[in-house]
Amino acid sequence: MAVLYLRFLMIYSTSDYERVQHNYEKILGYYDSDDTKKSSTSVIPIPDQTQTLEVTMGMNLYALSGFDAVAGQIEVVGSIQMSWYNERDTSNVDTSTLAIYVVPLSVMWTPSVVLVNAIDTVEKVGSSTYRPRYNLYTGFVEWNPRVILKAACDPDVTYYPFDRQTCSFIFTPWNYNSQQINLTLSSSTIDTSQYDLNSAWSLVETNAETYISGENYYANFTISIQRQYMYFTINLVMPILLLSTLTGFIFLLPAASNERVGFSITCFLAFVVLLQTVMQFLPESSLPMSLLSYYIIVMMMFSSAICLINIMTLRLYQSAERDDFVPGFLKTFVQIIQCTICRKWKKTSAIEDYRDLNVDWATVGRLLDIFFFIAFLAAQGGFTFLFLLPLGLRS
Ligand SMILES: *[C@@H]1O[C@H](CO)[C@@H](O)[C@H](O)[C@H]1NC(C)=O
Repeated sequence: MAVLYLRFLMIYSTSDYERVQHNYEKILGYYDSDDTKKSSTSVIPIPDQTQTLEVTMGMNLYALSGFDAVAGQIEVVGSIQMSWYNERDTSNVDTSTLAIYVVPLSVMWTPSVVLVNAIDTVEKVGSSTYRPRYNLYTGFVEWNPRVILKAACDPDVTYYPFDRQTCSFIFTPWNYNSQQINLTLSSSTIDTSQYDLNSAWSLVETNAETYISGENYYANFTISIQRQYMYFTINLVMPILLLSTLTGFIFLLPAASNERVGFSITCFLAFVVLLQTVMQFLPESSLPMSLLSYYIIVMMMFSSAICLINIMTLRLYQSAERDDFVPGFLKTFVQIIQCTICRKWKKTSAIEDYRDLNVDWATVGRLLDIFFFIAFLAAQGGFTFLFLLPLGLRS
């Protein structure tokens, strides 16, 4: 208070200072007198108590301190604007001086607004650091306490890391029903004019609305945020894409090098590691799961299929060493593939060529390798397109 008085002292002449001081004493005295102190902060400040007091609410967003998809919570720094008319008797005040008075919270009636979906507090919004500004002439009270809000927010990670999250902050004047307090909004959005940019999330839009549920009025402030995906694209999506491209190339490794199975198992394990990394950032929830997790699982299935087929083809190469007879179905298969390739590359003369083809094990192995290489590359490309296109379209 002393600082406050000092400021008035500097701004206004001594006589005016005394008038302001007189008014402060009237305000504080009114509330401080033994009988009225308690009741004045308890009674809703309207002459006719059967009427409804209109409280106007707004929200100002300064910063997004964090969104934790795993814990399902959002934390923001902001301020809550509340205003109403405090219609009490002002007959004994001096109306020739300052109109607006900053009064201590302890002598004022305030709507005890709580954040319904808060996860770290059950206290009402606003600390006594922030005092209401009271217009003595009109009775208009403005109270804008700064707040750090931690609210529950159900994450939707389907399109992770290109996901967009919508979180709500729901307030209600806890002790009062809709007969006593009517909530209105000062704006249909949250005021973000003083918002500080966040490096992990960009603010897409905000919305504010009120609704009645049961006996109470609720104010619903919603913010939509979009993940800044560059970090995750470079550190997570790129390695996954590169690795899935790599797995198909196993078929181009010479069978004699004996590296094939080792290589495919290494690819499989690398997918396991990447899956673990992705899971660190995602909530342990099945509804809904991230498309990226599904993509990795499908790639792991491809990887194990490639491993199996490799083991089979290695057996083929072994048969070649033993000089076994090539079974008929394999011969036909090889001829079909060769024919297709021939027609593509050599056009006419190929038709006669393939009939007299000498199909031995080496040809079978080589052709199967090329066949599976192309087949897997195409299938993986198709799946990559299918899974990552919806993600990419959202960025
Ligand atoms: C709050 O508003 C948002 C956006 O309009 C809406 O999606 C959400 O369902 C509302 N929450 C409640 C509890 O009404």
